[in-house]
Amino acid sequence: MQLSEQNTYTIQGIDPIRLTETYGSPLYVYDGATIRRKVAELQHAFSGVNMKIKFACKANTNLSILRLMREIGVELDVVSPGEFEMGKLAGYEGNQITFTPSGVPFSEVKTAVEAGAIVNVDSLPLLEWFGQTYGNTKPCLIRIKPNVAAGGNIKIMTAHADSKFGISVLLLDQILEIVKKYDIKIIGLHQHTGSDIKDAEPFLQVADILFETAKHFPDLEIIDLGGGFKVSYLPGDAVTDMELLGNKISERFKNFCSEYGRELQLWFEPGKFLVSESGYLLVTTTVVKEDPARNFVHVDSGLNHLIRPMMYGSYHHILNVSNPSGEEKPYNVVGYICETDTFATDRNLPEVRQGDTLAFLNAGAYGFSMSSNYNARFRPAEVLVDNGQEKLIRRRENLEDLLTSQEGL
Ligand code: LLP
Repeated sequence: MQLSEQNTYTIQGIDPIRLTETYGSPLYVYDGATIRRKVAELQHAFSGVNMKIKFACKANTNLSILRLMREIGVELDVVSPGEFEMGKLAGYEGNQITFTPSGVPFSEVKTAVEAGAIVNVDSLPLLEWFGQTYGNTKPCLIRIKPNVAAGGNIKIMTAHADSKFGISVLLLDQILEIVKKYDIKIIGLHQHTGSDIKDAEPFLQVADILFETAKHFPDLEIIDLGGGFKVSYLPGDAVTDMELLGNKISERFKNFCSEYGRELQLWFEPGKFLVSESGYLLVTTTVVKEDPARNFVHVDSGLNHLIRPMMYGSYHHILNVSNPSGEEKPYNVVGYICETDTFATDRNLPEVRQGDTLAFLNAGAYGFSMSSNYNARFRPAEVLVDNGQEKLIRRRENLEDLLTSQEGL
């Protein structure tokens, strides 16, 4: 969101308050230009190697966002049959989609593989089943757990020894035994360290572990280093230095390829990095409560629409779009759900009045996709602003949506 010379906020020249008047509040708005910029940034950082981006679409599964990704050459990483079908609906071919399950029923893997997806095998029992079922007729990747702890908080770390994800690198002998027994065609090694990782060091550490492990697999085509790059959650926040990371990983990757004796593809599967900063959750202030202990700002939203602050203690920057130059005061910004759904504590904001529009930043990743109907509330509409044009890409839910799958009406 940009602050214009007239001291008003705009998204590609469009007034966000007017968007809430047209499409209702609360409202998710995505800026397509930011998505395009982030994709270009990642491509630029790794331009020296054969790199492919697979959008981890759990971050945002709106079909229009998936179509935009496809248009700009980004492929998909999915974790469920639902995400896989959305990828297909967005126009992806099965083989442009990687299925990265986490202990799912093998029937789900079968459906995905038979529809052309490439699977990241995440357990020894699944590897055994894969071998028995497909022998060497279908390729797959193996998800390695490198036993490296990194990420913004423990809930979003996925590669430490205690994490449920992947096959521990310490079980390499057993992996190799099963691969040999069924002659399984392993075309890639995969790992995902976690989310919100700022420093290059953990990425380099896991890359080295994967390169070392790769020496045991002669037919690899792909090394997939997952996602997890840290984005900016407030102005001036420290983020992953992509150019530095790109240079360091590319150099190591090139050395690995020449040692391995073949050109491989380097895959990344970011979610947050591509879409977090593109999204805004616009809400309206319902009540300003001047309590002796705190000033509370209630908004027409809650943990049902943006759960990250309550689930992870995540910081989301808030703008008072209606009163950018108001005098700053501390507020607790809270939701309307019948739970303690606090978005921000003691946050300095330009004076907030009833009816003001607030914008939560970084709402493009794990915002709508983690939303729910708790308290029988409807999920918001979503709007994409791209090439200067706004488009409603999901209508607001209504009572019928809540009732449609229920019996006894
Ligand atoms: N690849 C795999 C296998 C993953 O499990 C994930 C995220 C990603 C890629 C993308 O990670 P990213 O680039 O978005 O950090 N809901 C949490 C984040 C959980 C991420 C789960 N896996 C949050 O809102 O912070």
